[in-house]
Amino acid sequence: MAAKSLIHSPLNGFKVEAFNGKFAGKDMVSIRQFTDKIEVAKVFNVAGQMEKIVKSKVNSNILKHVTMAELFYQPSTRTFTSFLSAARWLGCKRVVAIHGMEAYSSVTKGESLPDTIMSIEQTTACDIIVMRHPEDNSAFEAAHFASVPIVNGGSGKLEHPTQAVLDLYTIYRRLGTMTGLKVGMLGDLLNGRTVKSLSKILTLVDPKAKLYFISPKVLELPRNEVAELKQRGAQIVETSDLASVLPELDVLYVTRIQKEWFKTPAQQKLYNNLKGQYDINNKWLKLAKKKMIVMHPLPRVGEISYEVDDDPRAAYFEEMRMGLYTRMALLALLTGKIK
Ligand code: NCD
Repeated sequence: MAAKSLIHSPLNGFKVEAFNGKFAGKDMVSIRQFTDKIEVAKVFNVAGQMEKIVKSKVNSNILKHVTMAELFYQPSTRTFTSFLSAARWLGCKRVVAIHGMEAYSSVTKGESLPDTIMSIEQTTACDIIVMRHPEDNSAFEAAHFASVPIVNGGSGKLEHPTQAVLDLYTIYRRLGTMTGLKVGMLGDLLNGRTVKSLSKILTLVDPKAKLYFISPKVLELPRNEVAELKQRGAQIVETSDLASVLPELDVLYVTRIQKEWFKTPAQQKLYNNLKGQYDINNKWLKLAKKKMIVMHPLPRVGEISYEVDDDPRAAYFEEMRMGLYTRMALLALLTGKIK
């Protein structure tokens, strides 16, 4: 396997080790750390074991001796709770989970990210840190300064690797395959991080994946991301016309327009013009294959009508449960408790 062993931050020169078949003791900062589909298969295999634990309703003690810290500098419903609950299902009793870091920690006094990370390690004696942060380079920076693995629960506009794993697992579970698929990604491809991570892992497991990026021109996927995907072998279609591609798709991955990144008055005006542009409802689904699945990392803010929830093609609730299983698997693998 002639895989790269170091993955560099595109921004600040920090780097993390690629998995190269081994997870124990490593950070999970970038989806680019996956270098072979065998690693994906490993996570999925362990996720299957994790599902059995949850279904048995009896905690395991795999993480009995592990202390986990969770530091979230941005809002979260699913990622925060699924990591917390993943740790608990695995018997991890020592969890320090902090939401609202940006408001309630010494960050408001100007504390730097390296100082915060090193402080949390000292005060908690943790073995692993899960972090969500608004800056693109934050997870790489945290990994550089931490002596324990950093798990990226979403950083800036570029990376959300654990979401990509759970999304891919959902596709695999629902469609029984990860290859030969036509995957449409709709919404804010410029600011959203989930699409950037998912499209990369899709092209790892299927270098010839056909990806359809559907968005208004102003929200299109950045050119360097498109170039990277093409280099990985992907076939790419970019369009603003959902109707023209929807009948072909096996997966429709919907995302919200990321309001928080529209900061200036001009951007806020643009946001107001863009919001509500698409609403996946039963009428749209009439154009889609009977076996297509509709996904969304959530939160949804009007892009998928509630009526779609009752359609068997809706997979976004299942995605959340797959998030619990895959995050249990990742915690067990990264801490080296499962090899
Ligand atoms: C996403 C995120 O934080 O990037 N949420 C999530 O983790 N499920 C998607 C979003 O906020 O739109």
